[in-house]
Parts: sequence; C-alpha cells; structure tokens
Amino acid sequence: MSKDRYWRAISLDSISPDCFPNVALFLRSGGNYVLYKDPDRKFTSADFNRLERNFTEFLYVRSGDMEVLNEFMEKSLADLLAREDLGSAAKGRVLYQTSVNCVIDMFEAPETASNLARCRSMVQHIMQFVAADPHAMESLQTVIDHNFYIFAHAVQVAALSLLVHEKLFDLAPDEMADVGIGSLIHDYGMTFITSEVLEKNDALSDIEYYKVKQHTQKGYEYLKRCGNYSEVVLNIVRYHHERYDGNGYPTGIKGDDIPRSGQVAAICDVYSALIMDRAHRKASSHDDAIKTMRDEARKGAFNPELFERFVEIIAEIHPV
Ligand SMILES: [Fe+2]
Repeated sequence: MSKDRYWRAISLDSISPDCFPNVALFLRSGGNYVLYKDPDRKFTSADFNRLERNFTEFLYVRSGDMEVLNEFMEKSLADLLAREDLGSAAKGRVLYQTSVNCVIDMFEAPETASNLARCRSMVQHIMQFVAADPHAMESLQTVIDHNFYIFAHAVQVAALSLLVHEKLFDLAPDEMADVGIGSLIHDYGMTFITSEVLEKNDALSDIEYYKVKQHTQKGYEYLKRCGNYSEVVLNIVRYHHERYDGNGYPTGIKGDDIPRSGQVAAICDVYSALIMDRAHRKASSHDDAIKTMRDEARKGAFNPELFERFVEIIAEIHPV
C-alpha cells in the first residue's frame, strides 16, 4: 500500500481557519518536511491566504497526531456541515478529508468496533450531504494526494453508491449505512497485495494481474472472519469486479445473480477510477468517462438498465 507511514497529507482546503486543533503542521519541500506551524499557534485566515497564494495544496501532519486531529474533525463535522456561512464546496472538502482519514484507519484495523462506528457515522454524514443537494457531489471530487488515491477513491465510490441507491431504491436506513460502509472498504483486500505490484506504473504481468484480482476474495474472506460486517457489506467487497456477462472476477457469476449492491458498486467504481487523476494517467472528463463506460456496457460489463439510470443520475450532477 502506497502510504507514507510517518506523514499524512491534509488538503489545505479542508483546514478551516481558527478552527484547527493544536497539532503541528508541516510543509513538504523537496523531500523534506518543514515545520509551518507549531502546535500552540492558531491557524488563521492569514495563514490560509498566504498558503493559497503560494499554490500550496497540502500540509502534512505527523501520523502520531492523527488521532487528535481525527477526533477533533469528526466531532466538529456535524456543526461544520450545518453552518450557513460555509458553501457546499468548502463543506464537501472537509467531509472528503475527514472521510479519507477514517477510511485509512479502517484499512489499518477493520476488525476494531470503534473504527466501524466512526465509519458508520461518516456514511451518515456523506448520505445527508449528497441527499440534501446532489450538486454537492462535485465538491467531493477535490484533489487528493496521489499516495492516498485508494482512500479518496473509496470515499467517492461511497458517495456515488449512496446517491444511486437513494435515487433508485427504497432501502431501510441500516441497509443504506451498509451500502456506504461496503463502498468505503470495497478495496480493503488491496492491503494483501504487495506495494511493488500496486505501485507499478508499467503493465502488469499475468501473474501480477492474477494477484491484484485476488483483492476481492481476500478482502471478503478477511472481513467475513472479522464477524461484524453484514451481507450487504461483504457482497460489495466480493462482487464489485464481477461483470454482468459473467466475465468478471472473483466468481464469474453473471446477470442478476450478482447482488444488486455489487452491480451498483461495479459501475460507481469504474466511473470514479476514470474521473480521478492517477500517477500514470490524467483524469477523464465526465463525458469521456461515460463514453468509455458505454462501450464497456455494450460489451456486457454492466447491467444495461442500471447503467442507463446511473448515467441519468450523474447527468443531473454534471449538466452539459
Ligand atoms: Fe477493486
């Protein structure tokens, strides 16, 4: 897993001036981390403006300080999302960063009940946020440090899956929460793949590709053994790479044998992967992503009806 063990990137946009806990902030300069603010000093609007003028996108926090930071951000999230003086873009950025931090901890210890509880509460915030205003989704597409792609992608897939389920199906709140949790940890099995394979920029060999494909089944087996994940969560983890025509993995089941939450996750997963910047390729525009996916849908990748409904929902967020 590509992730610096000592430093965590915090997007500048997610730091609200005068509302940041007492932790040190660092800037990355070349390969070094330089102290920007010591723990006792407040992060002010002047700081924010100065950094923005210098095109600073990320500040860094020692990973040991993340617990304090996460607790602070998660506690103040409800108040922050309710503030009328903040636009939805600013709220989206903070929600995104806070959720990414939560997913990082989930990937480190999915068996911990407290992490699951945090994750559940985060899903509720994401759900309320996207349900209140689907356009708010756009603000969840902020820039995230490449090293954190997998976590940022997870938050985006969760927001998309929740939106699709909210628009198309009438789920009980608990099941909706499980859709969100399953989407946040859908790629958990990637933690079993070595970083040499995951970080490789060149094409993967057959053996490497075989190993990557195992993330679905391995993630499923591990989380099932944890014992605190519902069938909906496990289905998303296991089946998000199945194809409607049966040519997917890990099981090759097809059509509506693939659980519906898995079918939705498959569509949201591909869309999110296409519209996000990667280290080895630039993000596709919304239109190009849909075009690519429509070609894939014609070849049998997705449930055709579900795919068309997805396109309609996404078109509302990205009007032409
Ligand atoms: Fe995956």
